[in-house]
Amino acid sequence: MSSTSATGNGLAPHVLVLFGATGDLAGRKLFPGLYRLAAAGRLPQSFRVIGSGRTSPGTDEEFRAAIREALEDRVDELDGEVLDDLLARLSFQTSNADDGSDLAAAVRAAEDELGDDVRRLVYLSVPPSAMLDMIAMLGREGLAERARLVIEKPFGLDLESARTLDAALKEVVEEDQVFRIDHFLGKEAVQNILALRFANGLFEPAWDRRSIESVQIDVPEELDIQGRGSFYEGTGCLRDMISTHLCQLLGFVGLEDPGAFHERRLRDAKARVFQQLQPLDPERVVFGQYVGYRDEDDVDPESNVETFVAIEAYVDNDRWRGVPFYLRTGKAMALSCRTITLRFRNPACDWWQALSMDGVNPGPNELVLQLTDDAHISLEMRAKKPGPDMELVEAVMAVDFAQDFPNDDPLEAYERLILDVLRGDRTLFTRSDEVERLWEVCQPLLDDPPEVVPYDKGSWGPQAALDLPRGGWRLGG
Ligand code: BG6
Repeated sequence: MSSTSATGNGLAPHVLVLFGATGDLAGRKLFPGLYRLAAAGRLPQSFRVIGSGRTSPGTDEEFRAAIREALEDRVDELDGEVLDDLLARLSFQTSNADDGSDLAAAVRAAEDELGDDVRRLVYLSVPPSAMLDMIAMLGREGLAERARLVIEKPFGLDLESARTLDAALKEVVEEDQVFRIDHFLGKEAVQNILALRFANGLFEPAWDRRSIESVQIDVPEELDIQGRGSFYEGTGCLRDMISTHLCQLLGFVGLEDPGAFHERRLRDAKARVFQQLQPLDPERVVFGQYVGYRDEDDVDPESNVETFVAIEAYVDNDRWRGVPFYLRTGKAMALSCRTITLRFRNPACDWWQALSMDGVNPGPNELVLQLTDDAHISLEMRAKKPGPDMELVEAVMAVDFAQDFPNDDPLEAYERLILDVLRGDRTLFTRSDEVERLWEVCQPLLDDPPEVVPYDKGSWGPQAALDLPRGGWRLGG
C-alpha cells in the first residue's frame, strides 16, 4: 500500500476516525463522499481512515469488501485505481462508549506511521441517544485531543439535552474543534441562495415582506424510513428534518446581509434570524404518520411518532413580519423534491387582471429553487402571449446548472462538508446558539404535540396539511 496519493493540495496528513462506519449514512454518503474527494485529488496526500462501531464487520478485508460493494452501488463510473488506493487506507477497530482503548491505540499507530503534523478528524455518526457517552469516551481515551470533531444532527433531542451535549463537548474540546454538521448546508443550491440574492440587483431589493407574500420550504420524500425504525422511533420527523435541515434553509432564506461569505458573519446572520423566529404554534402545525409505519421493523405497533410535519412559521422582524414560512416534509410521500419557493405579491396596479388569460389564470410570480445535486432555478411570471391581442400567458425563466455549466464540478453535500472539515472551515456548520434557539422554537410542539394523523403512502400527507398555506402548496395541490 502506498501511504500517499498523487495529490498536492497542501492539506496536512490526516487520520479520519469514523464512528458508525458500518451504518446507513456511512455507506450512502460518507464513503461515497470520500471516494469523490479522492478521485478529484482533494484528500490529503497522506491519510488513513479507521472505521469504528460496536459490532465488528469481520476482518479488515471483509470491511473493505463491504465498502467496495457500497461504493459500487452508489457511485457511477468508479475508477479502479482510486478505489483500490482508498480501500487500502481503510481499516476497522471496534469500540464502544465503555471501551475505546483498542481504537485509541490504532489511531496512535496510524498517526505515528504518517509522521509529524498529523491531524485527527473524528466523525460521530451515531444516534443522539449515544452521543453523550461517546464524547465522554473520546475524552477519556485522549481521542479528542487535537481532533476536529464532526457531530451528526440532530444535536440533542430538545433544548435541555442539547445544552447537556454542549457542556459535555466543552469538557473535551474547544468550540473551534467542533463541526456540527447539517448536510443541507453543503448543498450547492443552498449556497446559491446567497449568490442569487446578494449578487443580483433584481432580487435583493425585492427580498422582503413588501414584495414576498409567502415562502415555502418543501422537502417531500418518496422513501419510507428504509429500515431505520429504531432511529426514527427515537427521533421522529420534527427532529430529523424540521428543527435541523428545513429550519437551516429558512435561516439562509431569511438572513440579513452577512457582509461576507465568512464563518462568523454568516453564522451571526443566521443566528439572528433564529432569534426572531417565533416559537411554533401547535395549532398551525400538522403531524402525520404513513399507514404501514407501525408495521416497520423496530417500530412500536402503537407508535405515535410522526413521519410527516407541516408548519407555518413567522420571523418577527422588519423584513419578514407577517410573511408566513411554510415548511413541509415527510416520508413515503407522492414525490421526492427539495424545493424553496418565494411567492411574490401581485403588483399594486391591477389593470392587467382585466386582460384575457388564455383560459388559464397564470399564478403569482414564483422564484423556485430546486435543491437537487443538479440544481435548477426558475422564475415564473406573467408575459404577453405572442399574437395580435394583449393576452397574458405564464412564462418561465430558468437556469439549469448542469446544462449551463457542463464542465463545472458541483460537490455533493457530504463531499463538500468533509472537505471543509479537512480545511478547518466552519462556515457551513451550525453553532450551538443556533441549535439551542431552534429547540426553543420547537419546544411548544415537544410540550404539546399535535395529534398524529394517518396518511396513505404515496400521498401528500393529511388533508389539514394541504389546507395550511394560504393559496395552497406549489407542489401537489
Ligand atoms: C437525513 C435524514 O439527514 O437527510 C433523512 O436523516 C433524510 O431522513 C435525508 O432522508 C435527506 O437528505 P438528502 O440529501 O437525500 O436530501
